[in-house]
Amino acid sequence: MKEVLPPISIMEKMVEKLQSNYPSHSFKKEGTIQFHLNHEGKRINCFIKVDAHSLNFYEGITEEPTVSVKSSFYDWLNLAGGKLKPVAGVFTGRLKFKGDTSFFKVLPRKQLKNKVIVPVDPVTRFERNPVKYWEKPGKVVVLNASPRGEKGYTEFYLKPFIKGIEKHTEVEVVYLAKYKINPCKGCFSCWVDIPGECIYKEKDGHHKLSEKLFKAGLIVYAFPIYADGMPGILKNFFDRSVSRAYPYLIEGMKRVRHPRRYINHNHSMVIFSICAFFEKVNFKPVKAYFKALAHNRHTPVVAEIYRTTAVGLHASPFAYKLLNNAIASLEEAGEQLVLKGKINRRTLKNITKLVEKKHTSINKINEWWDENKESGNHNY
Ligand SMILES: Cc1cc2nc3c(=O)[nH]c(=O)nc-3n(C[C@H](O)[C@H](O)[C@H](O)COP(=O)(O)O)c2cc1C
Repeated sequence: MKEVLPPISIMEKMVEKLQSNYPSHSFKKEGTIQFHLNHEGKRINCFIKVDAHSLNFYEGITEEPTVSVKSSFYDWLNLAGGKLKPVAGVFTGRLKFKGDTSFFKVLPRKQLKNKVIVPVDPVTRFERNPVKYWEKPGKVVVLNASPRGEKGYTEFYLKPFIKGIEKHTEVEVVYLAKYKINPCKGCFSCWVDIPGECIYKEKDGHHKLSEKLFKAGLIVYAFPIYADGMPGILKNFFDRSVSRAYPYLIEGMKRVRHPRRYINHNHSMVIFSICAFFEKVNFKPVKAYFKALAHNRHTPVVAEIYRTTAVGLHASPFAYKLLNNAIASLEEAGEQLVLKGKINRRTLKNITKLVEKKHTSINKINEWWDENKESGNHNY
């Protein structure tokens, strides 16, 4: 179980870290540094004994220290972390020193022992502006992440979109529900023990599916809204993809992210989602999720298609025209996307046009569920 460490353990860890840098430190001298630190009404007494080879940590009070410091525990941390200057600390009475303060030079300042070689994976011009640098993708992979696969409405609305894409490039449709993907168990083996590989590599379909998606120039993530987010099978897939990044941190676009192990230049994605409710706001959580995912995967989102009332639009005779317009526009959208790397605003408007939320339609839906309860009819 993870717990907040007591101050004495923090001090001990700090000395361990300093000790790892001490052998190569240029200033070595024999002596002791005594600490009298106050924290939450208690006094912590501890000291560091220093010789030519090592820094050793002890609890308690040593006789005749070379230098001693008296302060609150937080002020000592601020001093050690460079947030509190010694002169300012003394002047304000927050730090009290006794003895030879130059002896503090025995504590190495250097943080990193060896220079870490961090893989280079900078922000690309394509990531910043995919439309400007768009090249027709050689292959598009559509990942249908509806747990109902071919039987669902996700598939129904995808069909015309794929038809449009197919007019200009190769498309492969992959059904996520056909792949067994274990949830990530957070062991970090993929970052520490077997870099880049998952403990489940030979045991499930994640690796095979990732390789398939990796080869596509453009990936369409298609999924229905489940409990205000994406279906668990898709989230599982994304969680497992952590193994495909390095653990190191680099600067991205105003945020930190990981460099990728496998780099596919000009790789982009489309979000294609449907939901049963009426309002666009139902897509807000997945929109925010994919914005973050796109940044952290170095893969720009080039189009977002969010179709509300997906079930009602298909079922209602009064929405027939709206449905057919949406289908025709989905096909156009597929074509525009491949050729230009974006979907025209008017086309998107036709696809996503809201179904009127009349009380009659809400009542009809409620009646349907009521009539069908315990009927065994799942064919909606
Ligand atoms: C477990 C579950 C949770 C759902 N949660 C939501 C939801 O939060 N908001 C919504 O508008 N629709 C929700 N729906 C409705 C689905 O988005 C809708 O049934 C969709 O057609 C399912 O996709 P499919 O037809 O491809 O299977 C949910 C459906 C299921 C099965």
